[in-house]
Amino acid sequence: MSKFDELRKIKEDVLNLKKSPLYNDRIKNEMFPVIGEGNHDAIIMFIGEAPGRNEAKTGRPFCGTAGKVLDKLLKHVNIARESVYVTNIVKDRPPQNRDPFPEEIECYGPFLDRQIEIIKPRVVATLGRYAMNYIMKKFALDLKIETIGKAHGKAYEAKTNYGDINIVTLYHPCMAVYNPNKIDELKKDFEILKKYKM
Ligand code: URA
Repeated sequence: MSKFDELRKIKEDVLNLKKSPLYNDRIKNEMFPVIGEGNHDAIIMFIGEAPGRNEAKTGRPFCGTAGKVLDKLLKHVNIARESVYVTNIVKDRPPQNRDPFPEEIECYGPFLDRQIEIIKPRVVATLGRYAMNYIMKKFALDLKIETIGKAHGKAYEAKTNYGDINIVTLYHPCMAVYNPNKIDELKKDFEILKKYKM
């Protein structure tokens, strides 16, 4: 199967994921799951938390306010959004944008795992603490987990079945929505990505 077909299969599986605690809410509110978007051969894969209102309305990741900040940060380091892949751990919108529950992360985690296996990024850049905790555990880096306040802007080496990769732990872009004077810190953290882009 091509990467395109494998990724489309993920979309179909999530569309029919009736066991998800968020499925009924999606159907009731006529929303879309947000699978991910971007270059299927991306070197850098960004992983956020869960779709917000705009994302669930359109089915596209990071297309609302936090997405505008992400675009600004990518521009700062001269990385084209089309060159990367952007997704979330949780593929459906938690009501009222609340934090995802552990059972939701558990339910959608395997789809993120499949996306990583298909795209095979050299760099997995986590946005916020939920993505960081999931990815650090997935790659057996539990012992290195710190609070996001300490881990932001750091890189870790990890092993996958397709070779060594780097995990870069970043603040979630919404941080600069709530706290605009944080944008400079976010920009500085994103500069670590410059060394990986091709
Ligand atoms: N926040 C996220 O974590 N993901 C999105 O897609 C949008 C906002």
